[in-house]
Amino acid sequence: MRFVSTAFFLATAVSCVSAIGDLGFSLGVKRNSDGGCKTTEDYLADFNTIGAYSNIVRVYAASDCNTLQYILPAVKQAGVQLVVGVWPTDDTHFSEEKQALTTYLPGYASNVYAVTVGSEALYRGDLTAEQLASDIDEIRTLVQGIDGYGSTPVGTADSWNVLVNAGNYAAIQASDVVLANAFSYWQGQTMANSSHSFVDDIMQALQIIQTVKGSTDISFWVGETGWPTDGGNYGASVPSVANAAQFWQESICGIRAWGINTFVFEAFDESWKPVTSGVSGVETHWGVWTDSNQSPKYSIDCDF
Ligand SMILES: *[C@@H]1O[C@H](CO)[C@@H](O)[C@H](O)[C@H]1NC(C)=O
Repeated sequence: MRFVSTAFFLATAVSCVSAIGDLGFSLGVKRNSDGGCKTTEDYLADFNTIGAYSNIVRVYAASDCNTLQYILPAVKQAGVQLVVGVWPTDDTHFSEEKQALTTYLPGYASNVYAVTVGSEALYRGDLTAEQLASDIDEIRTLVQGIDGYGSTPVGTADSWNVLVNAGNYAAIQASDVVLANAFSYWQGQTMANSSHSFVDDIMQALQIIQTVKGSTDISFWVGETGWPTDGGNYGASVPSVANAAQFWQESICGIRAWGINTFVFEAFDESWKPVTSGVSGVETHWGVWTDSNQSPKYSIDCDF
């Protein structure tokens, strides 16, 4: 039954798109060498590496690691587009985020593609959909009040299964742009079924967003997807370079061929992250690149 639904959603989606979906990357804000916050020079090195494949990246917070202060000059110099994340919890943090937007956004409007409020905030239960919608509206007023940002889209990013929940539609309604995350790895899928699962998840989210918005003319991205190259198994999911390469070809190239814009999690391994026990130890192995100044671990060319 789900397979039939997928075919229907694909037909729906393809009717409103014609081009290949764009490719973007999630970008960490700490250096692997020492875990320190990246500088403008560090970001320029990152963009130099990513630039052969993509000119848009997303970050998750504005004030943490002074991200906006240091990334915006690099974004401008490299001609990159940035999706600025805003972390809405707790109140103190949210205030710092708003202060960073006010202080650092001026002068960079042509390099800011969108602003997202929250990253899986609904999935974690940090906020209700109504609270998140209110925060999105507040950030839209703030951002669009800055010179040059009058039409900058403001939205949110959350897990596909949360976005399809009717209790969360208020967050979709409040958003100019929606990013839906889907990880076949974290659903314990076999490699054989991973692309089926991924496409089905994303198309369910897209279909709901189109329905809630009452339009097929919406701004939609896969917000995060990818496959780890090392670490422990999760259910039937096995991290490896070969499996990451296969997921890339079947799922990431595949969904882009349907015209869906896609952010991949993530550009670079984050080897600075502490190795946590209990989880499968994959946290440091999501990068397409090990580090800047390296080649991708596997081919990320698509055969469009
Ligand atoms: C494959 O993915 C689909 C879509 O998510 C799911 O309905 C189905 O149960 C999966 N099949 C297996 C064998 O896990």
